Amino acid sequence: MQYRRLGRSGLRVSVLSFGSWVTFGPQLAGGGAEECLAAAYEAGVNFFDNAEAYAGGESERIMGASIRNLGWPRHSYVVSTKLFWGIHGQVVNMRNTLNRKYLSQAIDGSLERFGLDFVDLVFCHRADPETPIEETVWAMSDMVSSGKALYWGTSEWSAEEIRAAWEIAERHHLHKPVMEQPQYNLFTRRRVEQEYARLYEDIGLGLTTWSPLASGLLTGKYADGIPEGSRASLPGYEWLRDSLTDPERNAAVRELDKIAGSLDATLAQLAIAWCVRNPAVSTVITGASRVSQVTDNLGALEVLDRLDPGVIEQIDAITAGLAR
Ligand SMILES: NC(=O)c1ccc[n+]([C@@H]2O[C@H](COP(=O)([O-])OP(=O)(O)OC[C@H]3O[C@@H](n4cnc5c(N)ncnc54)[C@H](OP(=O)(O)O)[C@@H]3O)[C@@H](O)[C@H]2O)c1
Repeated sequence: MQYRRLGRSGLRVSVLSFGSWVTFGPQLAGGGAEECLAAAYEAGVNFFDNAEAYAGGESERIMGASIRNLGWPRHSYVVSTKLFWGIHGQVVNMRNTLNRKYLSQAIDGSLERFGLDFVDLVFCHRADPETPIEETVWAMSDMVSSGKALYWGTSEWSAEEIRAAWEIAERHHLHKPVMEQPQYNLFTRRRVEQEYARLYEDIGLGLTTWSPLASGLLTGKYADGIPEGSRASLPGYEWLRDSLTDPERNAAVRELDKIAGSLDATLAQLAIAWCVRNPAVSTVITGASRVSQVTDNLGALEVLDRLDPGVIEQIDAITAGLAR
């Protein structure tokens, strides 16, 4: 495993990490979740990503219980949660917000479900255009000061919003946002490669990137439709179906698969290694619904050296016009 600093912070995270979206709850619980976590941890993964909203809080419960069963010492891993959508239905002030009341109560709920005294990382899961950024920055900084979280950051905020938050924190000597969690893969690049470009140097922003396989599209599994048991077949995830079965993207996936074959790699490994190759990325959060996928994906690091400029040029030619 390789480790990188989370932006300009001193915290080192494994360059491949493991997250629980969709999988913990709808697909994995008990032994299945534990096996995936153990396979990742044994390979040196030290960062495990989660969110309040995943499976309505169940994902945090499953991860917390699994880690307890596995007996990992608290100092050996980094765990996150993300707050924004809320899990209290339509209750005013507790959904789609980053106001002080929600944030200060939501973190307590997350810690209780995990069975932890603190999370290492906490993210504002989306931006909230209605709450002043200043209110959110003070609340997040207070959360860090209280010891309930060690570092805070954002997810899918615009560069302008991230810079505004950082500057407010700088002005008031508060804990600054350290990391952002954007989607980044062969088909989703603009934010990481263009919009955030100045933030890496200017404010030392670190990235924990999500969906390196575009929800499984970049494994080739959707080339002939939706396989039984795959993410796109699950109730509640119908909204993913059009993009996963898109004919143009799947044609590109077939071409990418040929490149992977020529490198003696799987397509998943090629796609994940391509994300790791970007030095702005602190860690690529992978997802898996079974141990064999965890093992396949962790093999990406062995492929990294094979991505020479000629290969990158071929990949760019195939994805040109399809990447946003
Ligand atoms: N901040 C945010 O807004 C946000 C949003 C999304 C995700 N995330 C984080 O990022 C993590 C990763 O995202 P993601 O799960 O979407 O990642 P992904 O790598 O794009 O997709 C993972 C899914 O692809 C399939 N898969 C994975 N490896 C495979 C392999 N080797 N062969 C065949 N199929 C494979 C599995 O689904 P099936 O087996 O079910 O088909 C797996 O659950 C999440 O767990 C979460 O922690 C954050």
